[in-house]
Amino acid sequence: MREHKTILKALAGEPQDVPPIWMMRQAGRYLPEYRATRAQAGDFLSLCYNPELAAEVTLQPIRRYGFDAAILFADILLIPQALGADLWFVTGEGPRLSTTTAQSDFDKLSPVADIHETLNPIYETVKILSGELPKETTLIGFAGAPWTVATYMIAGRGTPDQAPAHALMQENTALFEALLDRITAATVEYLSAQIKAGAEVVKIFDSWAGSLKGEAFRKYALEPCRKITTALKERHPEIPVIGFPREAGEFYLGFAKETGIDCLALDNSVSPDWAASNLQVDGCVQGNLASRHMVTGGQQLVDETRKIVKAFSQGPHIFNLGHGITPDADPDNVQRMIDTVREG
Ligand code: CP3
Repeated sequence: MREHKTILKALAGEPQDVPPIWMMRQAGRYLPEYRATRAQAGDFLSLCYNPELAAEVTLQPIRRYGFDAAILFADILLIPQALGADLWFVTGEGPRLSTTTAQSDFDKLSPVADIHETLNPIYETVKILSGELPKETTLIGFAGAPWTVATYMIAGRGTPDQAPAHALMQENTALFEALLDRITAATVEYLSAQIKAGAEVVKIFDSWAGSLKGEAFRKYALEPCRKITTALKERHPEIPVIGFPREAGEFYLGFAKETGIDCLALDNSVSPDWAASNLQVDGCVQGNLASRHMVTGGQQLVDETRKIVKAFSQGPHIFNLGHGITPDADPDNVQRMIDTVREG
């Protein structure tokens, strides 16, 4: 029933009277029902690998708010795990991984063909969702972009400036590039399997793209995104791709055309008026309300939401936040944002 789906229309380049809406991290700790299911699963990774419960948390924000899209519940760090890295989450701190910084670490990684052994439960989640979602709701699959995933594999954790990854890029470029290539190939297989299981759109999250400048941005953010998009479109020509080179700044210009993505997701450092004139001319854009409004609410939330809807009203637009919603957000503010978008 693809023709009923407003997100697919926007991705095909059609402006809508009311922009379709979903929210990054819409299944998450700000929702009491998510916290309850996560407790039932035991921990975050057990939740990701439990298809019934992962499908349940994916559906929770759809039931509560009626978003136009559901995003598969999983994590970008499942790819390193499927490639053989150790992965665990430290409560209150975030992810930890075994590091990949030497040739001997790289040599221990699994071949791309082996990733499905670990990732099969994720495809099962997609299958369940594809049967259970309302007919008007679009199912989005996703993966991390190679650079962002590599920053975690190299540092063994999240880093504010991605310094360990930049250091490896300088000191052992061949190893750094081999790692990026391995992640790129694995990502194509992973997203392709999600599509075969029922994902209707895929999104590539390059959360740390902003720390790449000049030629490095082109080689390590733009080029991997172009490769993944090209490979996916050869296999699944009808599947739209959303790219999110977060904090790319001036490098957002031309990114959609050069990579072949169907939609450029914008963080909230980009002015909507500038983006409408300079980026939306190339096709659909997604974004870009600051997530803090989900915490602070009030008239500012309404004013900023209206400003974004208006700025992008002349072209194809999917309303979203500029980054994921945070655990301290108030679920009522999410409803207020949705009402503002839908009521004008
Ligand atoms: O958007 C969604 O609702 C889909 C699910 C999703 C999650 N992570 C669930 C999650 C998606 C798309 C991601 C992407 C992701 N994961 C990114 C890229 C987007 C971004 O936010 O920049 C990154 C960098 C990660 C890695 C990651 N996962 C970190 C750094 C953390 C810890 C930080 C935190 O918020 O605690 C996670 C954990 C994580 N992934 C949670 C969720 C709901 C919270 C885990 C919990 O329930 O304790």
